Amino acid sequence: MANTILVGAQWGDEGKGKIIDVLTEQAEVVVRYAGGNNAGHTVIVNGKKSVLHLIPSGILRKHKLCVIGNGVVCDPLGLVSEMEGLRKNGIQVTPKNFVVSETAHVVFPYHRELDGARELLKGKNKIGTTKRGIGPAYGDKAARVGLRMNDLVDSARLEEKLAGRIKENNAVLKSLGAKPLSFKQVFADYDRAGRHLKPHVQNTVVLLHDQMRAGANILFEGAQGTFLDIDHGTYPFVTSSNTTAGGACTGSGVPPNRMDRVVGVMKAYTTRVGEGPLPTENQEISDLLHGMGREFGATTGRARRCGWFDSVATRHATMVNGIDDLAITNLDGLDTVESVKVCVAYRRGKMQYDFVPNDAQILAECQPVYVEFAGWRTPTDHCRTFKQLPAKAREYVKAISELSNARLFIASVGPGREQTIFV
Ligand code: IMP
Repeated sequence: MANTILVGAQWGDEGKGKIIDVLTEQAEVVVRYAGGNNAGHTVIVNGKKSVLHLIPSGILRKHKLCVIGNGVVCDPLGLVSEMEGLRKNGIQVTPKNFVVSETAHVVFPYHRELDGARELLKGKNKIGTTKRGIGPAYGDKAARVGLRMNDLVDSARLEEKLAGRIKENNAVLKSLGAKPLSFKQVFADYDRAGRHLKPHVQNTVVLLHDQMRAGANILFEGAQGTFLDIDHGTYPFVTSSNTTAGGACTGSGVPPNRMDRVVGVMKAYTTRVGEGPLPTENQEISDLLHGMGREFGATTGRARRCGWFDSVATRHATMVNGIDDLAITNLDGLDTVESVKVCVAYRRGKMQYDFVPNDAQILAECQPVYVEFAGWRTPTDHCRTFKQLPAKAREYVKAISELSNARLFIASVGPGREQTIFV
């Protein structure tokens, strides 16, 4: 398979979990490179649903090495409970198949509290974060006051550094009207988690290079999506990491010249959770998808905002990530639609855009320019080959791939592994 980066080409929740699971078959190593437990990757194997937040989905297959890279922010309590949940379901999680970078930053309760308090303070301008403390944790990393996994697994160091961080953060929390934290309690909880995780924590940069020398194929598992990227997304309505393909290099220590291919995952329509511009947002398609029981968040359970396919956005994603191949998911979500719309440009006053403007305010004022496709109005969830898809559905996926400027590689018609059509 060679080294492959998999990214979300929209606003997250593109169905990456399933595509990662499918591609993992051909990889020996799976690496998570950015984000934290704000992500929720849903994978269904033999009818059994697993939602993974931090651990790479590769864990669901035997003999795969799963790595949390240095670019991730790690909530150790969440991580330990995820590991225990998997073990309860009979999945092996050992230091042999699951390792965490010693330089990944740690998410503490004060990050979560600050995340919530800042959102409250923003009022109607809130970002709609997952309240997992992601922004404040990356903020500490950039401000060089964060603690990393190698601090967490060393009790004496943890005690000393945490004491200082709690003191400073309690003062900030008080000033924001939030409750201060008990050092004793936080230390006890985190020290326990650190002891549990210690056998898994190591230098993952050296490990990954050793693996490459031994001929391993690596799959880099992106979280969130292109337009939630801290640099390339709809700032400030973004997450706090580089979710785009470049993040795979900085977030793992594997250089750009060792990357062979980028796969972009996108839904056959568009969704977004949280606030911020979404040019093709549409009530009719939202109601339709929610009515089918679809499009509720895997991490927070929030109803996702839904809209028509936005090819201006996916073309932009191809450009920024260097997407070679496309996996189009949730095609079956459009099975009952009479006429399917695709946005091919944005209009704002007299201006027409064929790229995504950087300014979120300008993007919010953009109106989509649509072309329409006839709906196929036939169930597709049983289709197993491209030929079995209704002709109109084939036309649609071909058109949106062309408009997105990348090769059509996979069309997915349901959450199961078997509902994956390789084109
Ligand atoms: P944060 O990452 O929790 O700070 O949230 C920032 C923004 O990213 C919010 O709009 C979230 O809804 C969104 N977000 C974060 N993680 C995900 C994800 O995994 N899928 C979709 N949206 C996400």
